[in-house]
Amino acid sequence: MKQISFTLNGKPVSLKVKGEESLLTIIRIYLEQTGTKYGCGIGECGACTVIMDNEAVRSCMILAEDIEGKEIISIEGLSSEGKLHVLQEVFISHDALQCGFCTSGMIMNAYGLLLQSLNPSREEIIEAMESNLCRCGAYNRIVDAIETTSNEIPKKVKL
Ligand code: FES
Ligand code: FES
Repeated sequence: MKQISFTLNGKPVSLKVKGEESLLTIIRIYLEQTGTKYGCGIGECGACTVIMDNEAVRSCMILAEDIEGKEIISIEGLSSEGKLHVLQEVFISHDALQCGFCTSGMIMNAYGLLLQSLNPSREEIIEAMESNLCRCGAYNRIVDAIETTSNEIPKKVKL
């Protein structure tokens, strides 16, 4: 067993793991934060996306030993004081989901994009999001929601 320490949503976490577990397993099973979804488990769908040190990553592909000292943000970390993040609000107002299974990964990938570039073009949004899969086919509304959010950010939102 190996002791690892990192922060999840601003809170320090320290726990013993075998070492070969994925970050996704640690978040969902060890820490019981189930907003991050298990889709394919092989890095193909994006359902498990979280932010690690300011970059969107697929948590099913990150090994426990690689998260020592990292700052991780999962979907549970976006809301603050009971208020949804603007990305979450805009996804709802744009109906950018149906079953919702892909949604936390979509939102975290979009959040990662906006951390890198506050005002991405529509083409940049499509390119950044195209490998996150939505079996309900909400793609256009997802891209609309991210575009709207990026327009809102300079006015009222602090990432
Ligand atoms: S569950 Fe990680 S990419 Fe599909
Ligand atoms: S909303 Fe159902 S998979 Fe995307």
